Amino acid sequence: MDSCAFFGTVSEVYDSWERVKRIPDYEETVGIALFDRMFEVAPDQWGNVFNWTRDDFQNKDEKFLGFANKFVRMLDLAVHMLGPDLEIVEEQMHDIGVSHRNYGVLPIHLQLMGESLAHTLQGLLGSSFTPATKQAWKDIFGFWSTSMIQGAIEA
Ligand code: HEM
Repeated sequence: MDSCAFFGTVSEVYDSWERVKRIPDYEETVGIALFDRMFEVAPDQWGNVFNWTRDDFQNKDEKFLGFANKFVRMLDLAVHMLGPDLEIVEEQMHDIGVSHRNYGVLPIHLQLMGESLAHTLQGLLGSSFTPATKQAWKDIFGFWSTSMIQGAIEA
């Protein structure tokens, strides 16, 4: 992606994320919907990274809600790291890839999480989640994942 296309894509992701953040208790709302979707589409993939079950999301288990808050703030941090200089963002994502390899995160987790996040945002934002917004999230999540995996391989 050239830096001009990247700028438009980042704006789209940033604006839609700001709309999500206006939802009351957005961390819990996004966290519950995201994890429920991740576990719905791939129930057997998460054993080495998470101890949760779908009951925890559906019954709003208190420990899970605390975790969901932290997890969604992690995504918020990643959105805010996006800036005009592609190379700086890439370097930061390389470092995050190294820490995440140590947390047991595999490429398949990133792929499933990216797809589940797009589905979750579409559900929360309705018609304002346009095909362009969807494509922008796909591009940014792909960029995050590729940079994280690259960082983990090179370290
Ligand atoms: C299944 C996928 C993922 C798992 C299991 C995971 C897990 C974690 C864990 C355990 C931490 C440490 C939290 C703490 O103790 O403070 C963390 C931090 C973080 N994660 Fe994730 N993460 C995942 C995906 C992602 C993705 C896709 C991004 C970015 C797009 C991301 C961005 C971050 C950032 C920025 C931090 C804080 C800095 C760091 O620890 O490197 N994570 N993550």
